[in-house]
Amino acid sequence: MVSLSVGLILNLAAAFAPGGSHAASPTHTCDTPDTGFECNKSISHSWGMYSPFFSVPSEIPPGTPQGCQVTFAQVLARHGARDPTAGKTKMYSDMIEQIHAAVSDYGPAFRFIKDYEYTLGADQLTLFGQQQLVNAGIRFYDRYQHLAKDTTPFIRASGQDRVVESAQNWTQGLHRARVDDQHASPDSFPYSMVVLPEHTPFNNSLSHGHCPAFESTKDGEEAQATFLEQFGPDILVRLNEGLPGANLTLQQVIYMMDLCPFNTVADDNGKLSNFCTLFTEDDWRDYDYHASLGKWYGYGNGNPLGSSQGVGFVNELIARLTSTPVHDHTTTNSTFDEDPKNFPLGAVLYADFSHDNDITGVYAALGLYNATRPLAKSHRESASSANGYSASWTVPFAARMYVEKMTCAGSSEDLVRVLVNDRVIPLQNCEADSEGRCELGRFVDSLSFAREGGLWDRCFVE
Ligand SMILES: *[C@@H]1O[C@H](CO)[C@@H](O)[C@H](O)[C@H]1NC(C)=O
Ligand SMILES: *[C@@H]1O[C@H](CO)[C@@H](O)[C@H](O)[C@H]1NC(C)=O
Ligand SMILES: *[C@@H]1O[C@H](CO)[C@@H](O)[C@H](O)[C@H]1NC(C)=O
Ligand SMILES: *[C@@H]1O[C@H](CO)[C@@H](O)[C@H](O)[C@H]1NC(C)=O
Ligand SMILES: *[C@@H]1O[C@H](CO)[C@@H](O)[C@H](O)[C@H]1NC(C)=O
Ligand SMILES: *[C@@H]1O[C@H](CO)[C@@H](O)[C@H](O)[C@H]1NC(C)=O
Repeated sequence: MVSLSVGLILNLAAAFAPGGSHAASPTHTCDTPDTGFECNKSISHSWGMYSPFFSVPSEIPPGTPQGCQVTFAQVLARHGARDPTAGKTKMYSDMIEQIHAAVSDYGPAFRFIKDYEYTLGADQLTLFGQQQLVNAGIRFYDRYQHLAKDTTPFIRASGQDRVVESAQNWTQGLHRARVDDQHASPDSFPYSMVVLPEHTPFNNSLSHGHCPAFESTKDGEEAQATFLEQFGPDILVRLNEGLPGANLTLQQVIYMMDLCPFNTVADDNGKLSNFCTLFTEDDWRDYDYHASLGKWYGYGNGNPLGSSQGVGFVNELIARLTSTPVHDHTTTNSTFDEDPKNFPLGAVLYADFSHDNDITGVYAALGLYNATRPLAKSHRESASSANGYSASWTVPFAARMYVEKMTCAGSSEDLVRVLVNDRVIPLQNCEADSEGRCELGRFVDSLSFAREGGLWDRCFVE
């Protein structure tokens, strides 16, 4: 029912798109602005950070509570689906070569691999990934229409191509929705955006790499290796039986599984790849948890310096929420942020674009998952039992966190609420109400970790 009506809204939007700019019509995909990617969701929602965005179940209704009006919204979004990174694409292509060279007698489920040609590129957004961000822009408009119809958000992107392009595609979706709304007064397009270089020594609150002690930690990989030892061996036996002679390694179990999401998002419509059929739903849950361990112990609460990487952005967020200058000595550039062209205060809509690992650090600096117990390394935990923490629920392709400030009848102070991929995350340590919200002052108080600079002084000790 829901997806039918969503499809209808989309078709109308496409039909009214000005100038036929809407070339990649989403009518043939199961990716929609409203609910995200729903193709074969019993597996595609378990692909960790390689899941395409989907609307995550929320115990607290995600709509704006009765009697309240959102007066400020900040979105922090991940780029859309991309090709594998350069290093990974080499490993995948070598693995396929290794299989082709060694195997002559493919098992029944594996025959498609005989003629499979590795054609994935490296690092760039796929067309499907671009469309995800167009959809995210439409979705943002629909949610914050009362603010966005007359106001263009202040936009920043971290400097890597796929992030900048994602931000552009997001503005395209937002602008189109605005043009389609007869009550809106859209600004001229393209919208301006600030790009923060990712190469050090430029301080960039949307990209880690400035904290040497953090960059050398291996906590994420170690946790993943422990869990892979648990669930990987059975799958490895199955793969090597189906591909006799291939002699794949335990690490290549993950690579074979990676080929499912990467080939799926390489298809313009996100059609499920054959590689997905080699694994069971249970295998995918293990894969998702393996990814969650990588994020949690690599960049999140589970890493001693993970949350410190997100401190700079959180201090900028506090500045925006309270219209006061940034106080930070970690990843922000004070000269840059002092210039209102680069860092205006008093805007009502802000949009920032970054990567999964950086966004994970921001969640940690906000303490969003402080109620989650440290993830077990030896057995799987579900996202719902981990208070909503999993890589696919937090940092899928085209992930988005919304930070909202609202005024409500009967409340003298502004309230703050945070949603991660449409799931309301009840705020910690600031007396959150039943809607997961805190008063702005208490919220800022609860962020003492960030305000005091996190553990940044430990970044430079041997
Ligand atoms: C995304 O943006 C780029 C750069 O402006 C553009 O070339 C491309 O067509 C856009 N993709 C979609 C799906 O609209
Ligand atoms: C800070 O930003 C300024 C531009 O405003 C730039 O010239 C400078 O190199 C940057 N410094 C660092 C450390 O990021
Ligand atoms: C399989 O690979 C391992 C290394 O991963 C190697 O030690 C072993 O000799 C290989 N076996 C065959 C039959 O090629
Ligand atoms: C979803 O994927 C699983 C695993 O590949 C497969 O067994 C199942 O048939 C698929 N379902 C649909 C509806 O495509
Ligand atoms: C860049 O960050 C470092 C801390 O990592 C800080 O000491 C320095 O002052 C920052 N530079 C600017 C221009 O803000
Ligand atoms: C989250 O937990 C960390 C570590 O205990 C703590 O430093 C931080 O203040 C907490 N954040 C919130 C918002 O409660």
